[in-house]
Amino acid sequence: MSTIEQTDEHIMHTYVRNALVLDHGNGATCQDADGKTYIDFGSGIGTTSLGFCNDAWAEAVCAQVRTIQHTSNLFYQQPQATLAEKLCGMTGYSKVFFGNSGAEANECAIKIARKYSFDKYGENRNTIITLVNSFHGRTIATLSATGQDVFHNYFFPFVGGFRYAKANDISGLHDMIDETVCAIMIEYVQGEGGVMAIDKAFAEEIRKICTEKDILMIADEVQTGVGRTGKFLAGEHYGIKADVTTLAKGIGGGLPIGICMANEKCADVLDAGAHGSTFGGNPVVCAGAVKVLETLEAEGMMESIMEKSNYIREKLTALEEVAEVSGLGMMIGISLKTKKAPDVLKACIEKGLLVLTAKDRVRLLPPLTISMEELKKGTEILCSVLEG
Ligand SMILES: Cc1ncc(COP(=O)(O)O)c(C=O)c1O
Repeated sequence: MSTIEQTDEHIMHTYVRNALVLDHGNGATCQDADGKTYIDFGSGIGTTSLGFCNDAWAEAVCAQVRTIQHTSNLFYQQPQATLAEKLCGMTGYSKVFFGNSGAEANECAIKIARKYSFDKYGENRNTIITLVNSFHGRTIATLSATGQDVFHNYFFPFVGGFRYAKANDISGLHDMIDETVCAIMIEYVQGEGGVMAIDKAFAEEIRKICTEKDILMIADEVQTGVGRTGKFLAGEHYGIKADVTTLAKGIGGGLPIGICMANEKCADVLDAGAHGSTFGGNPVVCAGAVKVLETLEAEGMMESIMEKSNYIREKLTALEEVAEVSGLGMMIGISLKTKKAPDVLKACIEKGLLVLTAKDRVRLLPPLTISMEELKKGTEILCSVLEG
């Protein structure tokens, strides 16, 4: 049986997969099982932030596997402590909680918001406002938080206490605020929703409302965080620090991790027994994540991400077929005039380039460390497909 046949026979068909078996890779280049080469403009879905098998990351991960691969969270271990200290230092957050995915990081944020309010104001202050067109994960609570009707199906009953505000509609948001609201949760750039950045004025108004009313502002930076937009956190573009920020995807460099970071006022809300995860903060994953942070901390790294972003955006904007290039930094959405995003994705694969789609857009999330040579080669392929 081929890999594809084995997979289709034994794994639930929850993904629309491309008929491509990826076998090995280095940097932003990989090969399939037949030896065909591809430039990667997807990073998994924004996870392999340092590309495939980055040397420093792979060495740290392998060394940790051979030292101690797991301890329960009933003990202390160094990689977890190092990662937490580094993250707090880089972001100004007071404390972190480690889980294994973006959805779990958001579950933690939701629990912090509700318990913060419960502890301080008692019952019935538990409504969380999220945005229409948002995406926050696939667990029942994070699906409930997700403001897209298409996800509110089959799995009834969903978790109550979520309201969906229209992005950038300040008066609509004000209309939704009442004494039951405990948090407002946003993505600065809606990734799965089509790579749409929210307006600065809207984000500022959310920050203002949250501060005035002691409502927690939660930033879901699962996709936008960890350098993806050319700042460590996308909130930096807006000059805003949320009370709680969640990370996942890129910080693991390809291994599963989810992180919920809390500021001083809510850092101690989750006390002993209030939350937990068997694998959260696994030492192997944390040792790799420390290398991701060290790479991003290096001088000139954020500038180089912006340079690469500008390069692709300029090339794409010049094309007749491109209606708009959206997003921030290396989180790029391309809306098309006549072509369909899935057709572009297929044609790119044929020509040796991996891209993503989001809604009706082509989406690019190249590895942050992609070389200029790989970037130029990939951009050439993409432009030839879009012009063809
Ligand atoms: C903004 C955002 N939040 C949460 C998630 C869920 O992350 P995970 O699939 O790791 O649970 C995603 C995944 O695409 C995302 O883009």
